[in-house]
Amino acid sequence: MDLRASYGFHFDPFTREIRVEHHFPLPQYAEAKDGLLGAAQRRMSAGLIAPAGTGKTNLLRSVAEALPEARYRTSYVKVTGLSKRDMCREIAQVMGVQPAGAFNALVRRIQDKVLDAADTDGLRPVLILDEAQDLRPEVLGMLAPLTNFDMDSRLVLSVILAGQPPLAAMLRRAELEGIARRIAHYATLRPLSRDETAAYVAHRCTVAGATTNPFDQGACDAIYEIGRGNLRATDRLALKALELAAAKDASAVDHVHVVDARRLLWP
Ligand SMILES: Nc1ncnc2c1ncn2[C@@H]1O[C@H](COP(=O)(O)OP(=O)(O)OP(=O)(O)O)[C@@H](O)[C@H]1O
Ligand SMILES: [Mg+2]
Repeated sequence: MDLRASYGFHFDPFTREIRVEHHFPLPQYAEAKDGLLGAAQRRMSAGLIAPAGTGKTNLLRSVAEALPEARYRTSYVKVTGLSKRDMCREIAQVMGVQPAGAFNALVRRIQDKVLDAADTDGLRPVLILDEAQDLRPEVLGMLAPLTNFDMDSRLVLSVILAGQPPLAAMLRRAELEGIARRIAHYATLRPLSRDETAAYVAHRCTVAGATTNPFDQGACDAIYEIGRGNLRATDRLALKALELAAAKDASAVDHVHVVDARRLLWP
């Protein structure tokens, strides 16, 4: 389907990956980003807990980009399926410890590094763990013995734990108390309102190069009624509706295209 020809896009709209400079400029993203960055800058750890499809992964990407490489060693990890050993390697990596060798030896090297204040290359480690609601508690618990999460004096590693609301429940478990206590700041994101959804759809069209917004007001309302301001649902509905409209040579996307799109996406 040639959306580019039909509606004047220069790039595909509503893609999953979106350049940081093309992010939708809503205050909640700036606020969440400032909170997470501020924590990392103060050598603290932070949490980002928000529902699925509200923009966590994209926000984390913008946080990682904002930490200068000259001062921070930042590592972004999607933690689904991560084992204790993998977690250990990720921590080693971000702390500048060679992440090889037997598990026990690696644990010891990380602990030595934590204890030896002089052994530093000046880069501050920041470990971003995305989809942390999928971490097994015992894997998340590895953070405590491997870093000085239990000591108050020096913080060697900033962790940004991001995930869906079940992460909050996990952090209330008794065995993770030491880690929960370390989280100095929680950020969150919410789904978009009706007006924000319409503005978001228009923004995504603009950054994809369209000079006029192909979605009429009825289409935007229908997208909001169905997608409830969830960015992922909004993207999928908008793209499918656009394809349907293009297939019919329609000059604009209306609510009928959106309703048809829903039927095709979620039969
Ligand atoms: N700031 C933003 N500006 C524009 N589009 C965005 C922004 N943040 C996210 N998106 C779009 O919204 C969709 C969902 O974003 P993202 O994957 O970051 O959400 P998520 O909260 O990580 O979802 P999940 O919980 O499923 O991992 C993506 O397809 C992305 O293109
Ligand atoms: Mg995500």
